[in-house]
Amino acid sequence: MKILDVCCGSKMFWYDKEEPHTTFMDIRDEVLTYTDRNDVRKVEVNPDIVADFRNIPFANDNFDLVVFDPPHLIHAGANSWLVKKYGKLNKDTWEQDLKKGFDECMRVLKSSGVLLFKWNEDQIKIKDVFAVFEQQPILGDKRSKIRWSVFVNEKACDCIKKACELTKFNALNGGNKMSRKKDRKRKNFTIFLANGKTLHFTNVSKKEDLIDEKGYPYLVLHYFDKRINKQRTAYFEMINGNVIGYAEDKQ
Ligand SMILES: C[S@@+](CC[C@H](N)C(=O)[O-])C[C@H]1O[C@@H](n2cnc3c(N)ncnc32)[C@H](O)[C@@H]1O
Repeated sequence: MKILDVCCGSKMFWYDKEEPHTTFMDIRDEVLTYTDRNDVRKVEVNPDIVADFRNIPFANDNFDLVVFDPPHLIHAGANSWLVKKYGKLNKDTWEQDLKKGFDECMRVLKSSGVLLFKWNEDQIKIKDVFAVFEQQPILGDKRSKIRWSVFVNEKACDCIKKACELTKFNALNGGNKMSRKKDRKRKNFTIFLANGKTLHFTNVSKKEDLIDEKGYPYLVLHYFDKRINKQRTAYFEMINGNVIGYAEDKQ
């Protein structure tokens, strides 16, 4: 079991601050002291590695569990104790920064791995953060101000990756769960996305249900695109019967 805590801070939520399966990471290594009423308190941020979650220095597919507890504040004085203790996001770039962090967590996570994300809704609603991630968690706390959420790894399977490597392919992010419905007679396919959008494929000449090298199922549709008068191919990554990733040749 390999675990990475990308924003370990002072490891407040760890029962064992030397947990042996875990690599502790943070962007800083420092000891802070502060006075709370008359008590002098100390906060020690002492990670195993100092690194930025936007550029995690580990190879792909490395960890079974990644814990992501980034700063949640965008408005707070630089000298405030909360900022010293938990850090602060850049108010102009927080969306890009968190998205980069989320994508990096997913990159170093094994395909079968789990991402545990913690968020405090003080200044930014969690639904806005999920929108930035372009992925919904599978479960999580839906009520309290501090939200723990579990994400599964929905990174593109090999068929999607391969398709994208050939520069003529585009990939749509598979963050949304989709379902599919087919109309055998008219050889039409409609893919319903959870966000309300639909993808239509007409004149499907061939449909293939295949398995990639790692054993992941994928669906291939060969269809005629009337708009551009061309034969095209679309690839769909499947999990439990749902289409979660999509790539097709550029027009
Ligand atoms: C909410 S606190 C984490 C608290 C921690 N989970 C705990 O239990 O004490 C966020 C942490 O993220 C760190 N941080 C901020 N920006 C970062 C970045 N770009 N990469 C890695 N860590 C970062 C901060 O230094 C801070 O310690």
